[in-house]
This record gives sequence, C-alpha cells and structure tokens, in this order.
Amino acid sequence: MNTNEKLVIKGGKKLKGEVNIHGSKNAAVALVAAALLVEGKVVIENLPEITDVQILLNVIGELGGKVEHLRHDTVSIDCTIVNSGKAENYDLSKIRASYYLVGALLGRKRHAEVIFPGGCNFGVRPVDQHKKGFEALGAQFDTTGGYISAKTRKLTGAQVYFDKISVGATINVMLAAVLAEGMTNIENAAREPHIVDVANFLNMMGADIKGAGTSVIRIRGVEKLTGGKTYSVVPDMIEAGTFMIAAAVTKGTITVKNIIPEHMESLTVKLKETGAVSIIEGDDHITVKGIKRPKAVLVQTMEYPGFPTDLQPQMVSLLSIAEGQGTVVEGVWDNRFQYIEQLHQMGADIRVEGRTALISGVSKLIGAPIRAMDLRAAASLIIAGLAAEGTTTVYNLEYLDRGYEGFVKKLAELGADIKRVQV
Ligand code: EPZ
Repeated sequence: MNTNEKLVIKGGKKLKGEVNIHGSKNAAVALVAAALLVEGKVVIENLPEITDVQILLNVIGELGGKVEHLRHDTVSIDCTIVNSGKAENYDLSKIRASYYLVGALLGRKRHAEVIFPGGCNFGVRPVDQHKKGFEALGAQFDTTGGYISAKTRKLTGAQVYFDKISVGATINVMLAAVLAEGMTNIENAAREPHIVDVANFLNMMGADIKGAGTSVIRIRGVEKLTGGKTYSVVPDMIEAGTFMIAAAVTKGTITVKNIIPEHMESLTVKLKETGAVSIIEGDDHITVKGIKRPKAVLVQTMEYPGFPTDLQPQMVSLLSIAEGQGTVVEGVWDNRFQYIEQLHQMGADIRVEGRTALISGVSKLIGAPIRAMDLRAAASLIIAGLAAEGTTTVYNLEYLDRGYEGFVKKLAELGADIKRVQV
C-alpha cells in the first residue's frame, strides 16, 4: 500500500446509494490461519482484499501451504504440507492477528514460533489469556526474544476459564484445541460473530465445536481436519456500521447490503436513540436515512453483543456534532481516544478523562489537515471530514488499507467529494 498518499475531502455532501459490505476482517484473518489446521485444500470466499489478510496469505505460502487467488475475493489454500512452525516474516510484527498462527501451528505441528504481533496501539495489549489457554492444553509458552512461542509433545483437552473476555484468546485456544486429545471447555469465551465464523469453518472441515457464540465453548478433539470444501466469510459488521454512521453524519441515505442485521443491533438501537435517523431493516440489508441533527446520548462499548469498541471512534465523530453533552465510555481498551486530538483540530469540543470522552456537541466541524492513528480512527476522521465545512486532508492512509477494502471508492460512489492523491 502506498503510504505517501493523502485523502482530500470536501465536506457537506449527503451520501446516497447502496454499498456492498465485504467479508469481516476479524473473521478473515482467523480463517486464513485456521486453514493451516486442514490437511487438504479449502476455498475461502468473500475474503476482504486488505493488507492484514494478504500478509497472512503470504506467510501461509512461506510455511509450505499453497495459496491461489481464484477471484478477487476468493482464495484456495492447500495446507496438505506445512513444513515449518516458525513464522518470521517481519510484516507479521505489524498486525495483531499474527498471533492466530501460534494457535494454528501449535495445533497442527505441536510447536509454533511467531514474530510478536503489532497492531493498533490502544495501550497495553497483553497475551496472558492466550498463555493461560495454551498452558492448560499442555504447551510451554514463551514471549521473549521478540517471538511468541508455544510447544508441546502432546496437546490434551482441558478446562480453560478466561479471566478477561478476549476475542483473540478465545479463537487462539479454539485453534489449538480442535486437534488435541479429549475435551476442551472454554468458559467466559468471547461471543463475537467472527468467533462463530471460525467455529463454523472448523466444523465444516471436520472439527467438533459446540457453543461458539455463547460464553461456553466445548471442543472435542479430532484426529485431523480434511479439506475439499468452500467457506464464505461472515459480513464485516464494523464496515457496515461505519457506513451506517456515515449516513447519519452526512444526513444522507445509505443501504448497506450483504450483511446480517442482527449483528448490527447495538448500533441500530443507539442510532435510533439519537433521533437522527430512520432505519429500515431487510433480511440482508439495512437502509439508514439521516433526517436531522443527532441528540447527544451515552455510549458504553463492551464485548459483543454490547456496543462494539471498533465503532467507538466513528460514533464519537457523530456525537461531536450532536445537540447536547454526549458521553462515550470505552469498556474494552485502556487508551482508545488518541484520535480525539485530531477531532479537536476540526473544532470538536471533547474532554477525555481516562476511559471516558465527554462530548459537547458543536453545530459544525471545520475541515483541517489531520492524521490517522489507527484503523478505525482513520474511518472516524474521514466521517468527520465528510460532515465538516470546507476541506479535510487525512494522512497515514496505511491504517485504512489494513481493514477497509475500497473504502474511498465506495464513499466516492455514494457521492462523497473525496480523492486519494500523492502527498
Ligand atoms: C480483537 O482484538 C480485534 N482484532 C480488535 O479489532 C477488537 O477491538 C477486539 O478484538 C475487541 O473486540 C482482531 O480481531 C484482529 P481482545 P484482540 O483480546 O483479540 C485484554 C479492529 O479495529 N486482553 O478481545 O486483541 C485486552 O487488553 C481491531 O479491527 C488481556 O488482558 O482483543 C483488551 O483490554 C482493533 N489479555 C481486552 O482484553 C489477553 O491475553 C479485549 O482484548 C488478551 C486480551
């Protein structure tokens, strides 16, 4: 991805039209890693074309897997042979999802050594729950020397109780347990749709997982997983939510298509609470019509099915032009408000106290040069630019390319005055 580009946005346009939502980034990265567990070829459809996925596909090839791009959103991955448990491609240090390679390689090869993951900087991002799960299964786990490594002679099913609800640790233990001997029970598991997606994929390939999507997941280890099937990635609820909020902010009308409306429930309810939108739900789409200036509301982010932390920055952009005092409490991450100093450049009146943002809505934002600091913050600042008066320039676009496929093109097709140009 070309990092010496910037976005130039002329605000004030009402976005109108339909947008096809791509497969979930946070499911796709786990599914690509899960393919390492299958002794055979799998085909994955509705795969988003984003750099996080591409990095993992490259590494699968380096580990001995055969990756073939069949169509723009469809790949075949054949891991009949996996000849190494060591993943040392430096790109892995830029993404969080690298750690799924640990669970998959531990499950497949009984040993894994993966460069320590990177990803968005929200303060401390420990892996102690991953460690707890892998050690319960009998592995020795180590995070020194710039790698996450786990190894064991035998993986034995175990009782795993998570002290913190963790998407990554839930998926990682599931990956390691599907080929272990005996039963594994994961308690206090995360319940996100992408966890259900990974369990569905593994079960399609012959695993025996029950309860995904609830806080107790039971996994009976099996001998091996076999390929020969095709799996389609669940729609990206965060991309869908980003466009729903964009409709509200610009007082436009956007239909987000190819989604699962129930995944959007917490956002749909919250947007209705602001009084800013009318919403019509179909079987696989939602139409959001921005009708007036939002009223300020309280947003508390938490694990699914609560309001998703990955829509927190986008919601703050909406509330920055609301009527009244809005409050956003970040219930998942220590420090996920860093982007707010960029909104201040646009005239937003927001005070951050620890994990709480106190937002005094202003009647309008003014365009300014701003810098993306992480993936969802990039989307949030673009949304602010779409609503702002005047021109907004957004830098550090590499964050955007990590998780949104064709975001700028989709916005332009909805009528936004937005261009990606050389810095
Ligand atoms: C996943 O991160 C997502 N990333 C994040 O999305 C998302 O914000 C997060 O889940 C919560 O939904 C991917 O799926 C690649 P966690 P993950 O483990 O797995 C603490 C995006 O924009 N924790 O659920 O790293 C942790 O510090 C990205 O798409 C421990 O204490 O998140 C946090 O406070 C940003 N110990 C909380 O749990 C652990 O061992 C939730 O983290 C693991 C996590």
